[in-house]
Amino acid sequence: MREFKHGEINEFVDWHDTDGNIINASDGGIIFVDGKYHWYGMAFRDLPFCPGPNGGQMTDIGVVMYESTDLLNWKYEGVILEVNSDPESDLFGPMRFERPKIVYNDKTKQFVLWCHYVKYPGNHGKGYGEGDLGLAVCDSVNGKYKWLGFSKPQPDCFVRDMTVYKDKDGSAYLIYDKHVYLNGEDRCLHVIKLSDDYLSYTDTQKRIESATWREAPAVSYKDGYYYIVTSGLTGWNTNQAKAFRTKHLLDEWEDIGDPCIDDFTHTTFNTQSTNAFCVDGTDIQIIMFERHNTSNFLKSSYVWLPIEFNDNNTISLRYKKEWNLK
Ligand code: GAL
Repeated sequence: MREFKHGEINEFVDWHDTDGNIINASDGGIIFVDGKYHWYGMAFRDLPFCPGPNGGQMTDIGVVMYESTDLLNWKYEGVILEVNSDPESDLFGPMRFERPKIVYNDKTKQFVLWCHYVKYPGNHGKGYGEGDLGLAVCDSVNGKYKWLGFSKPQPDCFVRDMTVYKDKDGSAYLIYDKHVYLNGEDRCLHVIKLSDDYLSYTDTQKRIESATWREAPAVSYKDGYYYIVTSGLTGWNTNQAKAFRTKHLLDEWEDIGDPCIDDFTHTTFNTQSTNAFCVDGTDIQIIMFERHNTSNFLKSSYVWLPIEFNDNNTISLRYKKEWNLK
């Protein structure tokens, strides 16, 4: 076996857009539209404007987007959901649009963006607007998204990490880490089916009993099984990944353990999961991870790996410093 060098998986590699600027799109996703991949995420704050620990983890810009035809060269498309300078606005910055996810609704022909919303000044908490879901829509993938507000998917809860998954039949599901302070319930991932227009919650819901104290969900599907890769809850510090699988999104999910191979430090190769997506015209599915850099969030790094789907309906992830799609 190749000798493992710890430094290999500890480095922070800058990814640049076609203008030479660092790609600043945290914990978002990829949506493929008309032959182009669009990569979006929350833009972290630049260091000089946010001294102090973790000051860069909020945004004073918003959600930004980049486009590419080859997943390698990324052209900046601009801010699609903007922070606002009006102190009365939900979007007054700095704040957070954490883990934004965009899905296209075939019936309404709208792009629907959900995120974990945290109002100014962007601290997770127990108060109003400090742990909710934000919603915005747009008629084009890369236009200016219209803010529709924030809400809770279930009563008496705080929303932490989340994702949205569009299924084969066109229905969409929200998966989120439900944090309950009031009744001592364990933190746990929940699945909630969205309405047909993806703009509200339905009562079709499932608590993933096996996924207590997990976050950073990234969903993929292959040969009859849905998989979620998750992290534990250690904030920006990395920890061991754990995957779950199910045949039906609203059934029981089975814990299938850590999918990372040769991850000797049990840190998900020193990253945290973000999102998974399919490469058009191939069998390849890529899982996006991030290596957060709390001393300068703009210097966080992206790690994208191919998901290996095994014959026994499990998944494996192997660290690769470089790889290509062929
Ligand atoms: C992580 C979480 C991120 C962010 C961070 C701290 O655990 O996955 O989305 O919330 O904590 O702000």
